[in-house]
Formats: sequence, structure tokens, C-alpha cells
Amino acid sequence: MSNTIQKNREYKKYVVDSKLQYFKPHATKIEKTFAEEVSSSLNADLKFISPKYFYDKKGSELFEKICLLPEYYPTRTEVTILKKLQQELPSFLDDSFRIVELGSGSSVKTRLIIDVFAKLQNKIEYFPIDISEILTESSEQLIHDYDNLHITGIIDTYEGGLEFLKHYDDKKNLITFLGSSFGNFSPSDGYLFLKKIHSTMKSGDLFLIGLDLVKEKHILESAYDDTQGVTAEFNLNVLSRINDELGGNFNLKNFEHHSIYHEKEQRIEMYLKSSQKQSVIIPKSNLLLNLEKNQLIHTEYSHKYRLSQIHDLLDDAGFELKHTWLDENKYFSLTLVTKK
Ligand code: TRP
Repeated sequence: MSNTIQKNREYKKYVVDSKLQYFKPHATKIEKTFAEEVSSSLNADLKFISPKYFYDKKGSELFEKICLLPEYYPTRTEVTILKKLQQELPSFLDDSFRIVELGSGSSVKTRLIIDVFAKLQNKIEYFPIDISEILTESSEQLIHDYDNLHITGIIDTYEGGLEFLKHYDDKKNLITFLGSSFGNFSPSDGYLFLKKIHSTMKSGDLFLIGLDLVKEKHILESAYDDTQGVTAEFNLNVLSRINDELGGNFNLKNFEHHSIYHEKEQRIEMYLKSSQKQSVIIPKSNLLLNLEKNQLIHTEYSHKYRLSQIHDLLDDAGFELKHTWLDENKYFSLTLVTKK
């Protein structure tokens, strides 16, 4: 990222070249800091660490590795579905559209959407929204690979990015939310998030959402507990992050990755399990943590849906169903909707 050019309300604008710019909010964070959040979440009776802290540099790299694991079916299944969708998406694009992506990450899947647009439009506008600066690396690679691509990256929360997008109302938007990130919301937060997306959409805008489907327990459980132990390393990495950034003294050898599928709640539940009675000090959170043997620290939920639930959920949030694409095993779904 080269130079700071101008301010746009509460955002700072960085222009890299004529086809690549970023917006980033000024550092007026009202959010709690990592230290404060850890202090209260590990002090609670039911201890947890917010999953947003998984994604430091090491964590983001480990997650990329998870996506390539044989047991982790969601990524490769979604890619298969996207290839099918590529043939049919043009029939839903009745106008010139801009692509908006929530949580862009590595851009493998994004490219499949951009390829569709490359055949339809002379100019492709792509607005990735991601909390991580990793967005800048993948954007530079994309600009290099596509001649007619113009990128405006927004380095912010999904909510912040969606608000920001309201300043760009001259063109229809196709908003994409791929991966199984939606499944990490609780059902009530997920509903509120859908309402938020709905409220930022103009009539004629489209929204494409990826959702993982309910399937056999053993398939789900191995996707979140692979034989190579990458998922375990990813989960445990959050403790290293607390050690590095908050001066903690977690001994990672005394914790295990623990994940189970809860059939009634339709979710994978991920925990870090204390393998012995132990105490941990986290100086910057001003915390002395006493853990019993087998005590659990919750880190993430990954909800799985049935097709009828997906359709009801989207309908309740005010969307009209256009199409759902599935793979042949019905492992994963991509649903295209518009505003009712
Ligand atoms: N969004 C991913 C999912 O729910 C996140 C994820 C995959 C994850 N594997 C994990 C989170 C392991 C914590 C631990 O599929």
C-alpha cells in the first residue's frame, strides 16, 4: 500500500493505482480490546474465546491449510457448485452489476465469479470487505491477473463495510457471502445479520449465500478434527496468540482440541479442553485462570442447515428465492436471492 491520498468521512482512502484503492476506518475503535475481551470471556463461568481472534497471520495460514484437507469437504464442494453456477448465473444478471464480497480471504472462489463477469462486462467493479489486511495481498494479485478489473477494498467489519457501500448506489450489487462463515453465527445473530444485508440492498440487487448442510455425524466430525491435526493446531493457536500478545503462559501441551456434533442444535461445537488441573496467568488481561481437569473453553460453533430451514430463514428476513445450487451429495448449498 503506497500513499495516503484523502479522507472520506470516517474512512481513510489509500490509492495504490487507477484500478486499486482501499478504505480503512480511522483508528477510533469503540470495540473492546483483545485484552479486555479475553479478561471477561475467560473469567465467565462458561469460558470462551471469541473466534475472531483465530485469524492472526499464523491462524489465517492454518485456515488456508484446513480448506485443502481431505476431510474438510466444504471448500472443495463449494468450488464444484460454483463451477455449475458459472453456467447459470448470467441468466440472473439482467443489468450491469458490481461484485461485493463479504469476507474475501484467499480469492480462489472469487475468481470463479469474476470469470463470469469477465465475459459479460467491459469493466468489472469488485468491492471486497474484510477485517483482515490480507485483503490487500489477494487484491494486488487479482489486478495483475484481470485487465478490466477495478477493486475498491474495504478493510472493516461486515457491518461497517455494508454501511459504507450505501455511498455507492449508482449500480446494482451482487453481494456474495461464501464459505460456511454464516454458520458461525448463532441463529439469532445470523437472522440480524441477514436483516442488515437486506437493509443495505436496493431493489434489483442480488445476494448469494453459501450454507453448509446437515449430514452424517461422522462426516461432520472428521471435517472439524482431521487426522493430520491441522484443525487442532488452528484451534490451539489462539492460546499462542494470547501468550504472544497478552503475555500469557498457556502451556499448549496441557490442552486438547475437542469438537463434537450436537445433533439437536445442528452444530459442530469446538472447544479447547484442559487435560489437567492447572493455573494460567494472563498479565495484560489482569487474570489468573484456574482450570479443572477436562474443563472446556468454548471457541466456535459451526451451524449446519436443512434446505427448508435455509429457505424459511431467507424468507423471514425479507428475501425472495431465485435459485439454490447443490452438489450431487447435497453436502453444501449456494442460494441466490433478491429483495422481496
Ligand atoms: N467457517 C469455518 C467453518 O465453520 C470455520 C472453521 C473451520 C473452524 N474449521 C474450524 C473454526 C476449526 C474453528 C476450528 O467451517
